[in-house]
Amino acid sequence: MSLTAIIGGTGLTRLTHLQVHRRESPATPYGAPSSELTFGRLAGRDFVFLARHGDPHTIPPHRINYRANLWALKQAGAEAVVAAAAVGGIRPDLSPGRLAIPHQIIDYTWGRAATFFEEGLDHVTHIDFTTPYSESLRQKLIASARAAGLSVVDGGVYGCTQGPRLETAAEIARMEHDGCDLVGMTGMPEAALARELELPYAACAIVANWAAGKSEGEITLAEIERHLARGMADFVALLTRFAES
Ligand code: HPA
Repeated sequence: MSLTAIIGGTGLTRLTHLQVHRRESPATPYGAPSSELTFGRLAGRDFVFLARHGDPHTIPPHRINYRANLWALKQAGAEAVVAAAAVGGIRPDLSPGRLAIPHQIIDYTWGRAATFFEEGLDHVTHIDFTTPYSESLRQKLIASARAAGLSVVDGGVYGCTQGPRLETAAEIARMEHDGCDLVGMTGMPEAALARELELPYAACAIVANWAAGKSEGEITLAEIERHLARGMADFVALLTRFAES
């Protein structure tokens, strides 16, 4: 039975619905992953869960050891990765509380360890990244959301910023001009590292707030937490349908 990895983001530090079999804290050539790996079953399917920001939630987006995380999941036998990602909504229909399954990425991050192909190489390797997300996994997530009775947006360009601060209104205007629909801080290099390891990867974006300048006033943590609590409950409902499929 195939093993699917779930990377939980802000608002999803534990997957409480998982019937846990065992936990492991593996070592990798890149150091320790953000959290222990939790292996278990949900609706008859095997999953391994990792908390991207650690458990408790203490690792900021630019300090996450993305290489250790992806390496540990691959080493554990994962055959696909589903990532949960809190985002700000840029496009008018991507309002707080909505779910979207992005189809493209623009990377604005810098200084992150973003490749496994760095040292001890026989030849320089350039992965194809035209389509950063696995289309078949994306379609499964969309079908699972719909089967769970959730309204989900099919597609969207995910702009990945460095964080940990939120963006300025001008930065969001520039990103919108670039074609971004959503903004988050953790989608890269996660997606590229998954591709380097030949792990099919897709993300479920949960809109936590309007991106900077897209609503009146400041973005508050209380607002983000309120929308994420509901959005993550929807993500778990999606996952249950995914497991049953
Ligand atoms: N910007 C970047 N990352 C985010 C946001 C945002 O507005 N909301 C949740 N994650």
